[in-house]
Amino acid sequence: MRPARLLWATAALSAGLSGAVSAQDNCSADIDSNDAMQFDTDVMVVDSSCDEFSVNLTHSGELDRDVMGHNWVLSEADDVEGIAEDGIAAGLENNYLPPEDDRVIAYTEVIGGGEETSVTFDVNQLDPDTVYTFFCSFPGHSSVMRGTLSVE
Ligand code: CO
Repeated sequence: MRPARLLWATAALSAGLSGAVSAQDNCSADIDSNDAMQFDTDVMVVDSSCDEFSVNLTHSGELDRDVMGHNWVLSEADDVEGIAEDGIAAGLENNYLPPEDDRVIAYTEVIGGGEETSVTFDVNQLDPDTVYTFFCSFPGHSSVMRGTLSVE
């Protein structure tokens, strides 16, 4: 996991410094999760030239989704705690998210070990001046499984 994290950080840094060509001109990002309750990256930068952005989530562990499930949820930073709390009551059948909650900007289903999923969302709905938070809404995971997403 460490090399992947370093690579990602380097790509984000060089994109920011050059200010022109993003390392992510394909308008998508891959992120892996595991049985140790971890994402393999905590920074995502979306190129502002993208109309849509896709996040491809994989779970390289072996545990089932009801034990060590992971999803990828995007919201404003101040909404994370509330969404995660309400998500517990919503249960796994709702991907641990309050149904049709306006605070949730984008989300994937909850997956277990060996599974993968993805979500595509409209970049134009994001404010370039806001640093958003992505997280896993499985009960107890959001405090450690989280990162930032911004548009540059
Ligand atoms: Co999780």
